[in-house]
Amino acid sequence: MAVFLAVANRKGGVGKSTIAVMLAHALSVYGGKRVLVLDLDSQCNASLILMGGQGWNEARKAGKTISDYFYDLFDGIPANARDYVARNVGDVTAGNGKPAPIALVPGSLLLEDIQGELYLKQASQSHIPDVVANRVRGRIELLIRRFEGDFDVVILDCPPGLSFAALAALKTADKVIVPFRPDYVSQLAVDRIALLIEDKRTIDDLAEIPIEDRRYTCLANYVRDDNKHYMLIEEISLVHPLMETFLPQREGIANAFDFINERRSIETKYSDAIGDVKELHIETEKLLEEIVKSAQKDKVAAH
Ligand SMILES: Nc1ncnc2c1ncn2[C@@H]1O[C@H](COP(=O)(O)OP(=O)(O)OP(=O)(O)O)[C@@H](O)[C@H]1O
Ligand SMILES: [Mg+2]
Repeated sequence: MAVFLAVANRKGGVGKSTIAVMLAHALSVYGGKRVLVLDLDSQCNASLILMGGQGWNEARKAGKTISDYFYDLFDGIPANARDYVARNVGDVTAGNGKPAPIALVPGSLLLEDIQGELYLKQASQSHIPDVVANRVRGRIELLIRRFEGDFDVVILDCPPGLSFAALAALKTADKVIVPFRPDYVSQLAVDRIALLIEDKRTIDDLAEIPIEDRRYTCLANYVRDDNKHYMLIEEISLVHPLMETFLPQREGIANAFDFINERRSIETKYSDAIGDVKELHIETEKLLEEIVKSAQKDKVAAH
C-alpha cells in the first residue's frame, strides 16, 4: 500500500514543486522506492522538471494528463488508471545505472476548467453547493487513491491556491509537507493551511492536537544563515511541527528545475545541494516508517 505525501502551501513560489520532485528523486534512488508523482497544478512545473517541455507536450496531445484522467474516470467509467501514468520519467539514474523508477501523471493547463465542468456535472444532481463540492472533492480523492496498489509512495504536488484537487490531496495525504520561506507572510500561510489540514477554526483549537500527532510538517526553504531567519523559523516551530532539515538557497536546487534530456547521477544533478537532498531523504524515510507503523497498529486495533 502506498504512502501518500502531499507537498502543499497556499502561498506560491515556496518550493513545493522543487521539493516534490527532489523527494521523488531521492526516495527512488536512495530508498529504492517505486514513486509516483501526481501533478495537481495547472502550471505543470513538476511535469516540466520530470519530463521536459517536449515530453509533457506529447503526453498532453495523447490525452494522458491528470485532467484527462479525472475527466475520463470521474463517473466511474471502468478505464484503467495505469493508462495515464508515464513511467521512468526524470533525468537521473538509479544506483544500478538504470532509470530511477519514477512515474508521473502529467499536469494539465486545463485542470481548473475541468474541475469546473466536474462541478457542473454534479450540480445537475443536487442544488446544495456544499453537497456538490464535497462530492466532487470525494470523487477526486477516490481517483487519487486508485494508485495506492502500484507504488510505495505517491507524491502530490499541489497548486498554490485552493481547488478541489488540492483539497482532495490534503484529505488523502498521510502526511502533508508544507514548505515555507522564513518571512512573516509565510507564517500566516502556514497557520492557514494547518487549520485546513486539521479541520480546525482557530490556532487555539489547533493547539489541542499535540504537535507530534499532526498530519502535516513544515519544511523551511530558502534559509539564510542569519538570526532573522532562525527567529522566524523558531516562531513557527512553537506552533507547528517542523522538519529538522532546512533547505538553503542553492544553485544546485535552482538548476535542478531544468530537465536535461540525458540521464545522470543524482549527485551530478543536485551538485552543491546533494547533502541537503540526502538529509531530507533520511528524515523523510523516518516519516514514512512512522506512517507505515501507525497504519499497521490501526489495522491490528481494528481486528
Ligand atoms: N532552496 C532553493 N534554492 C534555490 N532555488 C530554489 C530553492 N527552492 C526553490 N527554488 C526556486 O524557486 C522557484 C520556485 O520554486 P517552485 O516552483 O518549486 O515553488 P512552488 O511553491 O512550487 O511554486 P508555485 O506556487 O508557483 O507552484 C523555482 O525557480 C525554483 O528553482
Ligand atoms: Mg509548484
